[in-house]
Amino acid sequence: MDTITIVSITSLLAGILYWLFGMGRAAEQTKRRAADVSFGSINSEKVKDKYNQYSKFFRHLDQKPEQVADFVNVFYDLITDMYEYLWGQSFHFSPSIKGKTRLESTRIHEEMLADLMGANSSQKILDVGCGVGGPMRAIAAYSGSHIVGITINEYQVTRAKAYNEKAGLDEHCEVVCGNFLKMPFEDESFDGAYSIEATCHAPKLEDVYREIFRVLKPGSMYVSYEWVTTELYNSEDPEHVEIIHGIEIGNALPRLRRYSDIAEVAKRVGFEVVKEKDLAKPPAGVWWSRLRKTKFSNWKKRMMVMVLEKLGFVAKGTGEVQEMLLRTIHHLARGGETGIFTPMHMILCRKPEKQQQA
Ligand SMILES: C[S@@+](CC[C@H](N)C(=O)[O-])C[C@H]1O[C@@H](n2cnc3c(N)ncnc32)[C@H](O)[C@@H]1O
Ligand SMILES: *[C@@H]1O[C@H](CO)[C@@H](O)[C@H](O)[C@H]1NC(C)=O
Repeated sequence: MDTITIVSITSLLAGILYWLFGMGRAAEQTKRRAADVSFGSINSEKVKDKYNQYSKFFRHLDQKPEQVADFVNVFYDLITDMYEYLWGQSFHFSPSIKGKTRLESTRIHEEMLADLMGANSSQKILDVGCGVGGPMRAIAAYSGSHIVGITINEYQVTRAKAYNEKAGLDEHCEVVCGNFLKMPFEDESFDGAYSIEATCHAPKLEDVYREIFRVLKPGSMYVSYEWVTTELYNSEDPEHVEIIHGIEIGNALPRLRRYSDIAEVAKRVGFEVVKEKDLAKPPAGVWWSRLRKTKFSNWKKRMMVMVLEKLGFVAKGTGEVQEMLLRTIHHLARGGETGIFTPMHMILCRKPEKQQQA
């Protein structure tokens, strides 16, 4: 062997060693991180089963709308930990605001609801589809209202309660496990209600709006951020159809509604529509930028989960769940870029006073 070959081989070996060492450190780090995406919700043997159950559900959804709640529940068993890991305790989008962090713009988007409802410290407010309660805690702290959240997912209830306690807000915030199509609350028992990116999970919007109308006191306000297709959506355009279908599959949605359906449904159940606005429209800053920033890091995360799954550090099926999320992230961003989809079609409604109802 000549010197050049020896030098090349040595540096190659050194390179490999360096790389392996780096990998070892990275593996340690990722192992620690894996604890955050560990499906605390599910026994780890079950992740793959749950994922298969979810996919099967989706294929048969059109035939069985009454199973949607179960299907949504399985979905949130699968992704609650990953959502928290990626986005924190608020599971919704918000317009980006110049000079504000993502957390700050998230808070502003949440506090806007309190302002729209006119929430104050003597009121009891309902959070329809509350997730792990990020918005509930922000709104309780901001307005002083007493908030009752409802979610279909038991695991989220546990998380939300723990966070409420940790934030010292458990006197202000209650969390109940239940279906928002059939809520365990008395008629006319709330002074206000809001829903953030949650009613899109109902097979029929009318059913959830009617239920919210029932539990509100006359004269009180309901405000919602709805996921809808916009006026730019063209159902004849195959790319549009693919994007919207991709959003539905990756988010456990029965069928996305059109922006123009929302007010119609609200009026049909008895609400007065006070205001309606797509909060994603310019000059609002884009809401999907955070989904686009991470192309390279998506690739890294993919590799990481693949390795972790092979080594048995995370449950079998984690990779598939992650693939589903990454696909849906792509479809959501395309929905935003093309302008055919918005996750923040805001509608503000009032339940009329008694004498006006008849
Ligand atoms: C995208 S998450 C939004 C959570 C929360 N609003 C937030 O912004 O952080 C949708 C929520 O709706 C809840 N949900 C969906 N269908 C439901 C149903 N039928 N009854 C009660 N909650 C439901 C899910 O459990 C989940 O908590
Ligand atoms: C809260 O708002 C309601 C309805 O507008 C009002 O009647 C009540 O006096 C307010 N309470 C406080 C403490 O501001």
